[in-house]
Amino acid sequence: MTETARVDMETIVSLSKRRGFVFQSSDIYGGLSSCWDYGPLGVELKRNIREAWWKAMVHERDDIVGLDSSILMHPQVWVASGHVGEFADPLVDCKVCRQRFRADDLAGDRCPSCAGELTEPRMFNLMFKTFMGPVEEEAAVVYLRPETAQGIFVNFQNVLNTTRKKLPFGIAQTGKSFRNEITTGNFVFRSREFEQMEMEFFVKPGSDEEWFEYWVRQRFEWYVNLGIKREHLRLRPHAQDELAHYAKGCYDIEYLFPMGWCELEGIANRGDFDLVQHVKHSGKELSYFDDETQQRFMPYIIEPSAGVDRSFLAFLLDAYEEEALEKEKRVVLRFHPALAPVKVAVLPLSRNEKLVPVAKKVHSLIRGGFVTQYDDSQSIGRRYRRQDEAGTPFCVTIDFQTLDDHEVTIRDRDSLKQVRLPIGMLPAFLEAKLGGESFEILP
Ligand code: GAP
Repeated sequence: MTETARVDMETIVSLSKRRGFVFQSSDIYGGLSSCWDYGPLGVELKRNIREAWWKAMVHERDDIVGLDSSILMHPQVWVASGHVGEFADPLVDCKVCRQRFRADDLAGDRCPSCAGELTEPRMFNLMFKTFMGPVEEEAAVVYLRPETAQGIFVNFQNVLNTTRKKLPFGIAQTGKSFRNEITTGNFVFRSREFEQMEMEFFVKPGSDEEWFEYWVRQRFEWYVNLGIKREHLRLRPHAQDELAHYAKGCYDIEYLFPMGWCELEGIANRGDFDLVQHVKHSGKELSYFDDETQQRFMPYIIEPSAGVDRSFLAFLLDAYEEEALEKEKRVVLRFHPALAPVKVAVLPLSRNEKLVPVAKKVHSLIRGGFVTQYDDSQSIGRRYRRQDEAGTPFCVTIDFQTLDDHEVTIRDRDSLKQVRLPIGMLPAFLEAKLGGESFEILP
């Protein structure tokens, strides 16, 4: 497809709602701004993204282990990390219409909405506060974590002691983070509750630049391997004045969203900032002892930090295609099979009493190995369209010929090619196609 023919955000938002990828949060109460609920198809896609990341980061490597730390942490963590002091945006209020804006987003000194007079900028911390304990006034203030990374840093020694890992090694974690963003929008691109996939890679100082470049390359290729078109991705180094307070260097992997090039993932060289800060504030020893050189030092950290929701949006946008067929237009989501929410649809030609038991048998034969959907409503053509819109790689159809020859028709989502196959061969066929490099039915 050409650049101009690419899908716009409205089309994706409407498809998401219509097909059950994403709903507005608290919809029946008028919605809650910038919060989203993932529906039956969306939750599968999101799980698949998270699992593909975990597989590439943890299961397929010997040098990275996993962690699941709690969302609420000791408040001193956020003092040490710099979030209490530095994680703030400059805010201005319009004295006339009362709307609030980020000062650094505004071109002039008048309200962009009503041209009213604006207040002086005030710093606004982006962390959500809550109270721990039964009586609000006496309870301790705690924060909802604004990143999952700090849970990894404060567990560095625990993981080191229990796994006996040697440098270089990493700790990976996925989970919810919360930021009271001032400007949200563009669907799930920027919200106040979102999910991150972060990995902190601990290295010897001096080898950090090399590992930094390694992780930038690895992460870029992860998106390409899962089907994002290379020309829709680019790398952007951060300028010196743009770097976060903890970073020595940073690259953004950007995706060409409908609103332009925007950050999908950041890869930062955090140096020894975080461990040094936690030593200072906790008084605990967090350095590393190198058996070989008999030296103790503070590791440097390389951090690839991705957003599940942003990846979700990018994978959805990139998979979307409208195709003109002979009589109609079809909408198809060309997801990589590892990401497709449903892998196989089982479709009896009709609800005929002879076809249904065979279709149910076929369904039970494959559902243990693949996420499947059984659908016997409406015409077969309409059911194919529904599966195309869900991005299901294969449809298996049971027709009257099946009753005679025990063969089913398998239809390929992308090429629309069809083959007939004995029922008994179906599991092995699907396994080979969905688990391999090429999943086209007749490559
Ligand atoms: N630990 C480093 C860190 O959190 P970040 O660049 O602030 O770095 C990393 O966030 C990733 O988390 C972003 O690239 C993005 O994918 C995701 N992310 C951050 N804020 C988000 C928000 N408000 N809504 C959705 N995703 C967000």
